[in-house]
Amino acid sequence: MEKTTFEAFLASLNLFASSLTGTQQYILKCLGVLVVSLFLVRVALKIVVDILFIEFDKTRKEASFDRNSPKYDALRRKVFPKPFPNGWYKLCNIEDFKNGKIRSVSALGEEFVIFRGKDGQVGVLDAFCPHMGANLIDGKVSDGCIECPFHGWRFDTSGQCVSIEYSDRKPPTAAKTRAWPSKEWLGSVWIWYDAAGRDPQWELAPIESIESRRFKLQRTLRSEFPMHVGEMHENSPDYYHFNKMHGPFPIKALAWLLGTKHETKMYFYSERPEDQKYLECCKNEEYRTAEKKEDRTWWISYFDNWAEIELFPAWLKWSIPNTRNLTTVTFEGPSIVHFQVYTPLGEIRLLKTILPQAPFLQYSEDRWYAAKSTPQWLIWIVSTVAKGALEQDRVVWQNKIYNQRPILVSGDGPFTRYRKWYNQFYTESSKGYGETSEW
Ligand code: FES
Ligand SMILES: [Fe+2]
Repeated sequence: MEKTTFEAFLASLNLFASSLTGTQQYILKCLGVLVVSLFLVRVALKIVVDILFIEFDKTRKEASFDRNSPKYDALRRKVFPKPFPNGWYKLCNIEDFKNGKIRSVSALGEEFVIFRGKDGQVGVLDAFCPHMGANLIDGKVSDGCIECPFHGWRFDTSGQCVSIEYSDRKPPTAAKTRAWPSKEWLGSVWIWYDAAGRDPQWELAPIESIESRRFKLQRTLRSEFPMHVGEMHENSPDYYHFNKMHGPFPIKALAWLLGTKHETKMYFYSERPEDQKYLECCKNEEYRTAEKKEDRTWWISYFDNWAEIELFPAWLKWSIPNTRNLTTVTFEGPSIVHFQVYTPLGEIRLLKTILPQAPFLQYSEDRWYAAKSTPQWLIWIVSTVAKGALEQDRVVWQNKIYNQRPILVSGDGPFTRYRKWYNQFYTESSKGYGETSEW
């Protein structure tokens, strides 16, 4: 019978093997075993890597919390209060639109343009031209008016069109863009935002030390937080978090050596003599008619924080004598926070403002003021530590939701009263998520 090719191949292999010496045959066998073993190990490793590492790891990543996910955004929109409470907001600083420039600000679900008019008054207008919708930011300031880039209509600070260069008729009264109630104060532009279209419900509280120029602007710090506008305020009735989150010194490299111990108290009405000056200008209708003192609300609330520095906070917790120091905080509406830090070397003042650029994106600007005699190094330390403390909160703020019915225990602060206070900044007409141009 004729041999197959395979049998012929085996026969020639046999012939080749029998021609080798014993040692050569042994080496050849070892090489064969090595090649087969390496191949099997490679296959086994690939199976392990494919199944255990690549597949499982990928699945874990997909299932992890992602604060940029649509799911988290939808959840926040479902549980948080509405995005834009009524009140005074700081839009920008006057140096932003010096020398006849126009400043645009996109915030509160609106588009604003800001400029200085003929009489020196600041105008804050809706950005889109009522003629054909061009954006006035692309225009210029001419003769104290903002001139639209498209057909040259001119608007004064009241939003009224006062001249149309190509028409021989007087501009129609309806040719008007919305002008927001605004105020220039402390080198910044403030607007009254009100979903119900009401006039300002209160005047901004005077700050004698800054208005009289006894205190000068010393430092400006800016930051953005991906959270709801009310989150920073809600920190204050949260007494226990001060020791948990802010106990470790905010400058990480020093946290092993230094800590801070906080004692806090929030007031929604006050009988402190120094607050009496606020009372007359801050009472609202609800305050006047409330029968019980506890039911009184007005747009100011206060918060006192006594902080003391501790040495070796993890084990010794030794309070350094004479470091106990008071900061008083005054909340004015939903977006303005005044801090007064009392140090042995003088008072330092912070005017913090929060502007919602989007429902869950806040622009926060801190303006630090002090007398000229206050040492610069002290202002720098206080402002840097305060900024560091905010960064400690950021970790929680950016990933948390809003518990509409939190489970409260003794030791928690006055959340219920605080939320009632904050709620006064909403009206029926306050727009919900998706009801404004938010992004
Ligand atoms: S769109 Fe503004 S003048 Fe025509
Ligand atoms: Fe905090």
